[in-house]
Amino acid sequence: MSTLLEVSGVSVTFDGFRAINNLSFQIGKAEMRAIIGPNGAGKTTFMDIVTGKTRPDEGRVIWGDKSVSLLKMSEAQIARAGVGRKFQRPTVFEDQSVFDNLLLALKKDRNPFSVLFYKRGPSDTEKVHTLAEQIGLTDHLPRKSGELSHGQKQWLEIGMLLAQEPQLLLVDEPAAGMTPEEREHTTSILVEAAKTRAVVVVEHDMEFVRRLNCKVTVLHEGSVLAEGSLDHVTSNQEVIDVYLGR
Ligand SMILES: Nc1ncnc2c1ncn2[C@@H]1O[C@H](COP(=O)(O)OP(=O)(O)OP(=O)(O)O)[C@@H](O)[C@H]1O
Ligand SMILES: [Mg+2]
Repeated sequence: MSTLLEVSGVSVTFDGFRAINNLSFQIGKAEMRAIIGPNGAGKTTFMDIVTGKTRPDEGRVIWGDKSVSLLKMSEAQIARAGVGRKFQRPTVFEDQSVFDNLLLALKKDRNPFSVLFYKRGPSDTEKVHTLAEQIGLTDHLPRKSGELSHGQKQWLEIGMLLAQEPQLLLVDEPAAGMTPEEREHTTSILVEAAKTRAVVVVEHDMEFVRRLNCKVTVLHEGSVLAEGSLDHVTSNQEVIDVYLGR
């Protein structure tokens, strides 16, 4: 499998504390990957580094076919290069319909004036319907986004990210606050999305991770502790010790 993202020898220190410690691993194109690990393992910091929010003290973050360094790019440039990130708190426009939120997301430019004078073409309407199907919100397209349930808002947010056609989608704890049914639906959306792009999911819910049915990377103290199938890593004694706090 060809590599989409390569993190190599990355370290970050916050006030003398090494949150990421010589971290190295790779993500392939159209790969689903779960990242697990105890609180404070460095999972979110890893995403902050890839998206340019946090700059590492050492190491390399190499992206795409042209092997460009993401470390030299701004957050906006990294997003434009094809890295999408889902934040915990949805950034949907609550007063707008689901349809309009997805439509706005198709445009890279979120400037309110460009949106105001933007003419909708038939292909955009089709794209919105395809996205709505992907996230299971077709029946909710006319509704105000503010009326959606927590889970539905999260799916809309995923749809808005997919609208930007990222090559890599980073998702931090997508199942938090969801009902079991919502969790299952979230898994299906992500699994489907990973057929045409790489998806990296950080999640504590092991049932959720099991349903993703993918390679798992276990982080601990800012480094990779184990990697492989969920059964493989959860039978690793070092991983068991870390989770038991030994
Ligand atoms: N901006 C920051 N300033 C200082 N310390 C930070 C900062 N960001 C993260 N840390 C510290 O770095 C470590 C790793 O944090 P991080 O949020 O990446 O962990 P995590 O694996 O995402 O944990 P959780 O599962 O609780 O979300 C923690 O000890 C955290 O307190
Ligand atoms: Mg975190």
